[in-house]
Amino acid sequence: MCGIFGFVSRRELPVALVVDALRTLEYRGYDSWGIAYEVPESVGTYLAVFKQAGRLPPKLPPLPTSPIALGHTRWATHGGVTDENAHPHLDCTATLAIVHNGIIENYRPLRETLERTGHHFRSDTDSEIFAHLLEDSLERAMTESRLSESPDLLVEAVRQAFAQIRGLNAFIVLHLPSRQLVAVKSTSPLVLGIGTDGVFVSSDAVALVGHADRIYYLRDDEVALLSPDGPRLFDRCTGEPRQPQWELLTLRPADTSLGGFPHYLIKEIHEQPRVIKRILRERLEDARQLAELIQRSYGTFFVGCGTAGYAALCGSYLFSRIARRHVNAVIASEFKYQEHFLTDRSLVIALTQSGETVDVIEAVQAAKRRGATVAALVNVTGSTVARLADFTVPLSAGPEQSVLSTKAYTAKLAILLLVAHILNGSEHVGIDVLWRAIDGMEQALAPATLDRIRAVAEHLVDAEHCYVIGRGLSYPTALEAALKIKEVTYIHAEGFAGGELKHGVIALIQDGSPCLVFSPLDETRPDILSGAMEVRSRGGWIIGISPEPDEAFHVHIPIADVGDASPLVTIVPAQLLAYELAVRRGLDPDKPRNLAKSVTVK
Ligand code: F6R
Repeated sequence: MCGIFGFVSRRELPVALVVDALRTLEYRGYDSWGIAYEVPESVGTYLAVFKQAGRLPPKLPPLPTSPIALGHTRWATHGGVTDENAHPHLDCTATLAIVHNGIIENYRPLRETLERTGHHFRSDTDSEIFAHLLEDSLERAMTESRLSESPDLLVEAVRQAFAQIRGLNAFIVLHLPSRQLVAVKSTSPLVLGIGTDGVFVSSDAVALVGHADRIYYLRDDEVALLSPDGPRLFDRCTGEPRQPQWELLTLRPADTSLGGFPHYLIKEIHEQPRVIKRILRERLEDARQLAELIQRSYGTFFVGCGTAGYAALCGSYLFSRIARRHVNAVIASEFKYQEHFLTDRSLVIALTQSGETVDVIEAVQAAKRRGATVAALVNVTGSTVARLADFTVPLSAGPEQSVLSTKAYTAKLAILLLVAHILNGSEHVGIDVLWRAIDGMEQALAPATLDRIRAVAEHLVDAEHCYVIGRGLSYPTALEAALKIKEVTYIHAEGFAGGELKHGVIALIQDGSPCLVFSPLDETRPDILSGAMEVRSRGGWIIGISPEPDEAFHVHIPIADVGDASPLVTIVPAQLLAYELAVRRGLDPDKPRNLAKSVTVK
């Protein structure tokens, strides 16, 4: 899940550029950070390393310039959160520095062998092993060829070292003597970039904005050698040279900036109406093609994790209701225990913002092994899932930088709603209802609604528990609302299907227990309101999110009535409430503890 970044240039660039890139990548993990760069000295160059546990401080002492540097922001897996375990890691000669994203699954036996042969380890991480493996491979390659420091030898050594490790990994290697970087990966993402100032490599294209004009998503079967003269690509198995197909980097600085908002979370919540408009403008044809694939399939599965998993669940309700079609919504990490039904006529639709979630990738790979067709609703278009899928619908949500997913969630719902209507032969109805949803979202974001949400946040700021109920289309909304609240406020929030209350949950309700109730004007209204009344009569404090007031509500947050698009609108006040609570509790809304945005490890 970590973020990695590096550059090499013909001239000296500010090392602070790496730190800035790490700030952009911090959403991938923020347990520790570190940088390494070449320091030219009259007595000989050396590698300076600076690393520490904790988040990047807002201000750092001035950093020098250098022709080559790399950096890392960590989500800890093996080895505690300490300065020593922060990356970069060096080999014994301190001429190789590595940064790593992933887990070396066979690290134990490798470390034992390396220690037996005299390597000295400075950390408890699996990552450091790669620096020492590479040191050995490089020495072997140089002895065998009797040539020293040829660029291809470095590639050869990286290929050999990489072949010895197991797992899903991405590395950037800095080789001081040849002043070159090497990038290599298996599943975990790496993007190369070329700009006027030099060559760059990053876990995510967003960190290349402002540096690169052209980018290339490195493939698993490739190794990239980055030198001041430019990048070269090699086949990871044979070592044969390869020709990359560069593409233009279309992201602009405005896409990744805060744009006047104090946090990315609130910026991205506010972007939602614009994203749905973009979907209506740009993704209609994709929705039609996806509908055709579904039409042809015999068995459709939606897979996703967390918020994307709730979008999948909501999709199954939308398909049942609008398209009269059964689809299976499966949590991606559980898919391998349910894949036995798959045939070559099945269609598996992966829902994922990042396109790098390892459980989703595994589900997609399982589907492909069984000959099923794979489609993806994915936000990051160069991602692994986008490349594995037979057909992709881009979410068009723009970079989602807060760790919490918001705009990618409603983008998935909008596309699924459109597809359901297309399957039903009522595309124009789908388009109309999405326009109503856009208006409804704008109303939910207006100051009048915000004032009510802020008042609720004041009331709940010290709450320990919170319950959320909905039925039908609003059941996935209840789950998603509870997830938003718990992950950013650390309040224990639980989402339930309203009908489940009396089957156990109501035992938790006591005087003052806050309960959010989603009650759109659909067929669920009478039953969800009677559930709300039952909670109220046991002392529960009821916040009703609904187009109409009701006697069951202590507080009413009015929202627009938008028919079947209600899940796109009702979630907005819950997203805002989660944000307002986080701010009031003094928490960082963009970087909740223990989380990272791209879950690239199991
Ligand atoms: C919650 C959240 C996560 C992600 C999940 C899947 O706010 O962001 O639950 O939705 O990790 O991520 P993607 O969509 O990138 O596969």
